[in-house]
Amino acid sequence: MAEEQELFKVTIDGITVEVPKGTTILNAARKIGPQVAPPTMCYYSSLEGSGGKCRTCLVEVAAGSTKDPRPMPKLVASCRTEVMDGMIVKNVTSEKALDARKGIVEYLLINHPLDCPICDQAGECYLQDLSYDHGTEGTRYEFKRRTFVREDIGPYIQLHMTRCILCYRCLMVADQLTNSRSQGILLRGDSSEISTYISKAIENDFSGNMIDVCPVGALTDRTYRFKNRVWFLKPVDAHRDCDKCCGKVTLWNRGEEVFRVTSRKDPWGEVQKIDGKPAWICNTCRFEKKNTADWIIEGPTKVNRHSVISTNHYLKKVVPPDPLNKVLNGRSPILMMDINEVSQVNEPDIDLSILPGPATSNTFIEHDEKREIKETAAERLSINDHKKP
Ligand code: SF4
Ligand code: FES
Repeated sequence: MAEEQELFKVTIDGITVEVPKGTTILNAARKIGPQVAPPTMCYYSSLEGSGGKCRTCLVEVAAGSTKDPRPMPKLVASCRTEVMDGMIVKNVTSEKALDARKGIVEYLLINHPLDCPICDQAGECYLQDLSYDHGTEGTRYEFKRRTFVREDIGPYIQLHMTRCILCYRCLMVADQLTNSRSQGILLRGDSSEISTYISKAIENDFSGNMIDVCPVGALTDRTYRFKNRVWFLKPVDAHRDCDKCCGKVTLWNRGEEVFRVTSRKDPWGEVQKIDGKPAWICNTCRFEKKNTADWIIEGPTKVNRHSVISTNHYLKKVVPPDPLNKVLNGRSPILMMDINEVSQVNEPDIDLSILPGPATSNTFIEHDEKREIKETAAERLSINDHKKP
């Protein structure tokens, strides 16, 4: 008989959840939902050893456990800290954590260019989302930002180091998915950079997955970059028989044209798990199958409704039922609509465009007075007309 799993109770932002021993605070929070889950820039659940680099996921532990309810003295990285039974965690309810996150965003943006409108990743960049959610309006950084020359690291991928936030995800993909890693982090501290060192081309069959895991626009697809904006494309789920990978992908179409192929993403922006395994895709599916005839289309991809990608796409607008008929109890709503058919503010016979300045209440009072004088004169005239023999 399978051993019974020990469950720990953890409370995050006032919501209690039970998770198996060994679960991280981040995954416990994800179990509750996006409203309490901390953001992540380096953690990626399908990549072993990821996390602990960016500090975006910092949370406050208000009580360590039932046995030792003392708060933890410092904020902790939720992607690397395991829950304890009775732990109380504060994320969105912690001023300290939110303040620290602001600092982290400022730090991540020290060297990152602020040119989202011309970046190929715009609309699906996690740093862009993070800075909107947690960043400050300005930066205090006054020094020269470090810049790098763009480099083609193989036939399919371009590296723009200026945008890199050194999350290490691409290195983990190379280490864990491919049989040889040709790139690494060179130099140290502020000079650190991802590089193939001797400009070696990355040609491994699964190297394209580096583009999918990169949270910013540092690694881009050379067969797609700057050909379109993501919000103009319609993502559809599709599959094909592939002898190298699962063949289950998302096609990004405009009309009949397939602009790019990516792996399918889960609600956390990570590669979806299909049949319990991460559905990484091979370079043949990603870069060489750009015809709809190559694929069996399954249907529209479900896109988070807060994403710009979802604008005007598939889901019908949810219109709440019109309560008017119920309220009017059988009366015709037109009666109500007639009340304001003629505007009482902008009277139609006052030409606002010829006024020397903005209209004031006097404009209408004077107009009313003039109208009254005109009407009285007309009345008198008609009375006098009647009196005439
Ligand atoms: S290139 Fe992208 S994935 Fe690689 S370390 Fe930089 S930000 Fe992370
Ligand atoms: S996501 Fe936890 S440290 Fe980066």
